[in-house]
Amino acid sequence: MRPCANAVLISITVVTMWGCAKAPEEQPKPSPVERGKYLVSAMACGDCHTPRKMGKSGPEPDPALFLSGHPASLSVDPVPQFSPGPWGAAVSTSWTAWAGPWGISFAANLTSDEETGMGVWDDAMFVGAMRSGLHLGAGRPILPPMPWSSVGSLSDEDLKAILAYLKSTPPIKNEVPDAVVNESVSEASQAAAQ
Ligand code: HEC
Repeated sequence: MRPCANAVLISITVVTMWGCAKAPEEQPKPSPVERGKYLVSAMACGDCHTPRKMGKSGPEPDPALFLSGHPASLSVDPVPQFSPGPWGAAVSTSWTAWAGPWGISFAANLTSDEETGMGVWDDAMFVGAMRSGLHLGAGRPILPPMPWSSVGSLSDEDLKAILAYLKSTPPIKNEVPDAVVNESVSEASQAAAQ
C-alpha cells in the first residue's frame, strides 16, 4: 500500500474509534403511556387478562380481545372439584377463569372501558390495590393467580404509567363475572380487618 493510502486508512480508523468511544446519546425519556405499554408487555399482564383461542401450538391470546378479561359469555359451569391429591387448581380454556382453594377468580377487564374496564380507576385505586392486595385498595382480598405483590413492588411512577397506558387502550365492553370467594378466604380477611 502506498504511504498516502496508509495515512487515509489510519485516519478513518482513528475517526471511527473515536466515534465508538463517545458516550451514547441519551435516549429521550419515554412518556408514561409508552413506559406503561412496555411494563404491561414485559410483566405479561395479557397472558392472563387476554382471553385465549386455540392456535397452532395450543391456546394463544386473541388480539381482538386484548386485555378485555374473562368473557362474560363464557360459562365456567360445572366447576371442577378437587379431591386430595397432587392437583389443586384449574384454568378455563380461555385462561381467564381460575378455580382453586380460594374459589373462582376471573381476570379483570383492563381496557379503558368506562363501565366494565379501567376507565373510572384513578391512581390511588390502582396503586392502593397493587400495594395492599385488596380489591380497589379497600375491598375483599385480590385472589390468585393475580400477582399483585410483584406488580405492587414497582415504583409509584411505574404503577401510574401502567394505569395511564391501560386507560389509553381501545375500550372493550365486557362485564367480567364477580369472583366466587371461598368462605375460608372471606373469614380470614374479615379477621384480618378487625
Ligand atoms: C397469572 C395471571 C395474571 C397476571 C400475569 C396478571 N393478572 Fe391481573 N388479575 C388476574 C386475575 C385472575 C384477577 C382477578 C382476581 C380477583 O378477582 O380477585 C386479576 C385482577 C386484576 C385487577 C383487579 C384488581 C382489583 O382491585 O380487583 C387488576 C387492576 C389487574 N389484575 C391488573 C393486572 C396488571 C396491570 C397486570 C400486569 C402488570 C396483571 N394484572 C397481571 C390474573 C393475572
